[in-house]
Amino acid sequence: GGEESQLIIDAGQKRFGAVMCGTCGMVYTAASPEDEAQHLLYHQHFVGAVKFGGWKKERVVGSYPDGKIVLVLPGDPKYTLKKVEEVREFVDNDLGFQKAVHCSTSHTKTFLFVTNDKKVSGCLIAEHINKGYRVLSESPVLSPEKQSQTSAAELQIERQRAWCCATEPEPAVCGISRIWVFSLLRRNGIATRLMDCLRRNFTYGTYLTKEEVAFSDPTPDGKLFATKYCNT
Ligand code: ACO
Ligand code: ZN
Repeated sequence: GGEESQLIIDAGQKRFGAVMCGTCGMVYTAASPEDEAQHLLYHQHFVGAVKFGGWKKERVVGSYPDGKIVLVLPGDPKYTLKKVEEVREFVDNDLGFQKAVHCSTSHTKTFLFVTNDKKVSGCLIAEHINKGYRVLSESPVLSPEKQSQTSAAELQIERQRAWCCATEPEPAVCGISRIWVFSLLRRNGIATRLMDCLRRNFTYGTYLTKEEVAFSDPTPDGKLFATKYCNT
């Protein structure tokens, strides 16, 4: 299918004219001009953000039959950082992050999964975190009522379960601020490969353990993935 290909989701939704765009993955109502306009906007944003022309000096840190992983570091050429910024903006929009969530490229390491058709189909943004970084205590998992009824030790255990990646009260060394995979390519191990590459390449000469990596503020998808990734 070309750019116009649209897949009907199922017979039930067909009645209401719900379609999924085969390019950007957005589900919308074709019969609604408002929806169509919204799709067009998203579609253009998507196509622009994921387009990857290729760079003269790519730092390829992983090669696979279905694509490659390119690492972008602070200090890399402006046009590469600009691409990273563009992808991050798109991902933030997808994650529903407010524009205010600041993430400067000056201290982040970005891993892009680029598919063979030259599209950025996955992205992982990591940063160094230090002891002061309160990953665990920012957890929104426990309600205030529950927190007041629970002992500190229990809280710690509960949080560890919820966050799964921090098995020690000592904070991790690497924080994952964003992890995203294009909706139509999920469950193909792209996020897993991004994580493996991150652990191999975050600190020169060492392979980070799963405990040294923490997910900041994960979404339900992020939690499901993190739980699975950290337990295997
Ligand atoms: N539901 C249940 N289990 C899941 C899910 C899910 N949605 N996603 C991953 N897993 C588990 C599975 O066990 C999976 O193995 P399997 O497919 O063999 O069963 C395993 O994790 C590995 O999954 P991957 O294929 O490597 O993960 P994927 O490439 O699909 O990417 C991701 C996962 C990044 C969470 C993706 O679903 C996504 O982009 N979601 C939307 C954006 C998002 O919410 N990102 C997380 C934000 S949190 C943060 O950025 C800190
Ligand atoms: Zn589309």
